[in-house]
Amino acid sequence: MEKVVVITGVSRGLGLEMCKQYLASGAKVYGCSRSPERSQGLLELKRAFGSQFELVPLDITQPGMIQNLKYVIEAPVDILINNAGIYGPAGLSWDQVTSDPWMEVMQVDVVAQLMVVQALVEKVAASGDKKILFMSSKMGSMGDNQKGGSYIYRSAKAALNAVGKSLAIDLKAQGISVGLLHPGWVLTDMGGPNALITADTSVSGMRKVIDNLSLKNSGQFFSYDGSVIPW
Ligand SMILES: NC(=O)c1ccc[n+]([C@@H]2O[C@H](COP(=O)([O-])OP(=O)(O)OC[C@H]3O[C@@H](n4cnc5c(N)ncnc54)[C@H](OP(=O)(O)O)[C@@H]3O)[C@@H](O)[C@H]2O)c1
Repeated sequence: MEKVVVITGVSRGLGLEMCKQYLASGAKVYGCSRSPERSQGLLELKRAFGSQFELVPLDITQPGMIQNLKYVIEAPVDILINNAGIYGPAGLSWDQVTSDPWMEVMQVDVVAQLMVVQALVEKVAASGDKKILFMSSKMGSMGDNQKGGSYIYRSAKAALNAVGKSLAIDLKAQGISVGLLHPGWVLTDMGGPNALITADTSVSGMRKVIDNLSLKNSGQFFSYDGSVIPW
């Protein structure tokens, strides 16, 4: 049977590339986006793949839209990829950071991620693959932090790692494996023009990592090249 993959934040960047590659592999993909109708890339994929590709309106900070997922996505979900994320204001020193934008990033990058899992976990547990992924970042690694700064984004991704690690332990009994992914520094709107790799390279690597994810290596923080990143 074809695999079913659900991906959040698919209007552009890594989420859009994930859709492209999983569709090309023959999977049924549910692409979740705040405004699917505004993304040319999504509309082109929809034209090319028809009913193999379902577009689902989803702002991950809206509880009503998250609840809606349960009804829109009927099938068991083999792979849930929590990709949507924001960086927040860049370049702020420790004494310039303010509370409101910080809370907004925590809401999107941490809190909403678990809410999406809560809505879909039963469908993941009912599937063959039973895999949940979170798009983290090396910026959330304490062990890798050589430069300081980036208080908002670093703290959000570090908190997301804590969420993913606990889930890996708590969902093991249901046979669900959980992985935290670092996509590399990628040429997207968020990664900017100086980034080191293309979305194609990043997603090709992450798909291999996802293929290799199992209950044996669940709860780890993987780079797109398969190496394990220190917390
Ligand atoms: N690019 C990198 O170098 C890099 C490195 C490490 C980690 N990451 C992580 O990888 C993930 C994807 O990054 P990217 O580079 O593809 O970023 P991007 O180009 O900025 O795209 C972000 C995506 O997330 C969506 N999104 C943001 N807030 C949302 C919300 N409240 N509800 C639903 N969707 C929302 C955006 O939708 P709209 O179009 O509607 O805004 C967009 O589709 C993020 O979690 C990011 O932190 C990226």
